Amino acid sequence: VRVFSNLAVSLDGKIADRQQPRHALGTPLDRKTMGVIRAQSDVIVIGANTLRASPHTMRVPKGLAKRSGRQPANAVVSASGNLDPDWKFWQDPEVVRFVFTTERGWKQACEAAQERAFVVKAGQDQVEIPRLLERLKKSGLERVLVEGGGELVSRFLEARCLHEMYVTLTPWLLGGRENPSLVGGAGLSPWAGLKVLKSKRVGQEFYFHYKVKGARRV
Ligand SMILES: NC(=O)c1ccc[n+]([C@@H]2O[C@H](COP(=O)([O-])OP(=O)(O)OC[C@H]3O[C@@H](n4cnc5c(N)ncnc54)[C@H](OP(=O)(O)O)[C@@H]3O)[C@@H](O)[C@H]2O)c1
Repeated sequence: VRVFSNLAVSLDGKIADRQQPRHALGTPLDRKTMGVIRAQSDVIVIGANTLRASPHTMRVPKGLAKRSGRQPANAVVSASGNLDPDWKFWQDPEVVRFVFTTERGWKQACEAAQERAFVVKAGQDQVEIPRLLERLKKSGLERVLVEGGGELVSRFLEARCLHEMYVTLTPWLLGGRENPSLVGGAGLSPWAGLKVLKSKRVGQEFYFHYKVKGARRV
């Protein structure tokens, strides 16, 4: 299993403005790059807040060849199961959906999904990331793209289950202590070490590809 993330950050490490959650940080080239990275994946995993900010499926854009010829599956992670049944996300006929939830979120998640997703219990109070990856692997989904947000990225790092990170550094400062950042959570201990695999500058953006040191094989 290969697990890699892709997010755009401001210079101060923020990934979104809570006041304007739809306002993208990246340029059209960053969006295009996102499509190229998606095309390498079997499944795209996101946290529930990311879906709340933009409640539709994550797809490979037209014109890009997809792995195994179809759209990557989409998996949303939600402890609460508090998801809106009316989201467009549930209606895309080309995307296989998963909801990973907990004992406590199970009932609400099933009510929201209404048979339009595989709803999987993978923990008591929190979704255990190794269990999520095992379940995806069982379905043959071995190239796993974590698209954020910061809370979900922190869980993958805590579990030492994130192998690579793609980061686009965009020329913005957002500030705001409430704005989510690349890695949320309570703080990593020990810190995660990174190694730069590739970097390039295009215009005002920097594109980085890192290896995360010490990540375990799944
Ligand atoms: N710049 C970028 O590239 C980029 C990329 C992605 C997202 N974003 C933005 O980032 C914002 C969201 O980021 P965020 O950090 O607030 O949230 P997030 O990581 O998207 O979602 C957090 C939620 O996911 C669920 N969750 C995550 N890990 C879990 C685990 N191990 N077990 C159970 N549940 C888990 C919980 O859902 P429940 O609340 O349901 O319990 C939690 O409240 C949005 O505004 C989005 O647009 C930006």
